[in-house]
Amino acid sequence: MSIEIRNADPSEYRAAVDVVSTAFLDRPDLDALAAAVSSTWEAARTWIALDGTAVVGVFRSWPTELTVPGGATVAAAAVGPVTVLPTHRRRGILRALAAADDRATRERGETFALLHASEFGIYGRYGYGPATRATDWTIRTEAAGGVHGGASGAVELVPPRDTATKATLKSVFDAWRVRQPGEVARRELNWDLDLGIEAQPWGRRWNGWVAIHRDEAGGVDGYARYTAESEDHDLLPAGTLKVDELIALTDAANVALLRYLMDVDLVRTVKLENRPESDRLRWLVRNGRAVGNAPSWDSVWARPFDVRAALEARSYERESRLVLEVVDDGAGGGRSSLALDAGPDGARCAPTDRSPDVTLPVAAIGAAYLGGTRLRDITLATGADEHRAGALAEADALFRTGAEPFCSTHF
Ligand SMILES: CC(C)(COP(=O)(O)OP(=O)(O)OC[C@H]1O[C@@H](n2cnc3c(N)ncnc32)[C@H](O)[C@@H]1OP(=O)(O)O)[C@@H](O)C(=O)NCCC(=O)NCCS
Repeated sequence: MSIEIRNADPSEYRAAVDVVSTAFLDRPDLDALAAAVSSTWEAARTWIALDGTAVVGVFRSWPTELTVPGGATVAAAAVGPVTVLPTHRRRGILRALAAADDRATRERGETFALLHASEFGIYGRYGYGPATRATDWTIRTEAAGGVHGGASGAVELVPPRDTATKATLKSVFDAWRVRQPGEVARRELNWDLDLGIEAQPWGRRWNGWVAIHRDEAGGVDGYARYTAESEDHDLLPAGTLKVDELIALTDAANVALLRYLMDVDLVRTVKLENRPESDRLRWLVRNGRAVGNAPSWDSVWARPFDVRAALEARSYERESRLVLEVVDDGAGGGRSSLALDAGPDGARCAPTDRSPDVTLPVAAIGAAYLGGTRLRDITLATGADEHRAGALAEADALFRTGAEPFCSTHF
């Protein structure tokens, strides 16, 4: 039976969310979910697979910006959800949906596509590489013995659903995200769900607290969004405070907000979810052994669509001149050679007919581009051809960054 791939009409969104929730093993209120997505899904970015008139697969994206090393931002497509009905799996429907979306992404001129993968093995074949990691941290507050550093500014609780609160958080986040390679611009919907202004179509409405930090001059330079579970053990308080987000523009704001969260009465455990692996929590508290982290996971997978523009957009911590041959089966011709002349002041990258130093699959570039995944590591999985001894090590050193890329935004 032939499968048709095309853009969805908004009248098909209910059928599409039915497919999405079935593939993700969930049974939400489909009418509510269809109503919620109708204002955010763009038909031209929503691909469906049809078996006859029945929707059996969905692949969609929304437009965002990705911050790259050095602080520039590039246009990107944030992909999700991607689903095929269990009755139609492993017949090439995802492959066909991805091909349609790839063509559209190239036509729109977006430099990257980004996604969170439900399983590790799915997206490498489509040119995506695991580019950022994340972990959940736990602090046992009594054992931690407090936070280093003196007090500064003031912490204030603000009503989460107020328009002014959303505006304040957005301005702090927008100042922060352009400093943080790997972070993306958020949609209005992210804020409305995160602050409980809108109910989560997939679950409960967020219902917690927002603390902001003001510097000595009264300006807001950080915030924390959190919920809590109250509990007693043997008549002693043993509550858990779950920090959904802590964003700080300064070290002082970070320390002040952390101290506030750890000092809340009746709390014995603070959990900070979806944080960088390089978070300095262990060094901020007096007893580093009171801080632990869960196994980390691959967070954002990045797929460069315009490798030349991507390589020119970021900055590099070292100087190097390399000819990279990029293998991208999705691009016309499949292989292209780029002469990259890169350093701390920027990069020039241009097509060349010089012989390459190293041949790399586009997925390896996607993984290593933000500086978090080592090129020498990802190429163990993707493969690479070194044509000059030492060229892979040079490329590995060139792509690395001292700071970890990180994306705090769910999509
Ligand atoms: C993952 C999913 C979208 C795959 O759809 P599909 O139509 O079965 O995929 P295809 O038949 O087009 O497979 C394309 C390739 O991906 C591989 N593949 C598909 N799903 C895979 C998985 N979960 N793990 C590893 N490889 C996978 C196939 O083996 C095939 O490989 P090949 O090209 O080498 O033959 C579908 O199974 C699904 O909806 N799963 C549940 C929801 C989910 O996890 N979605 C992904 C969200 S990020």
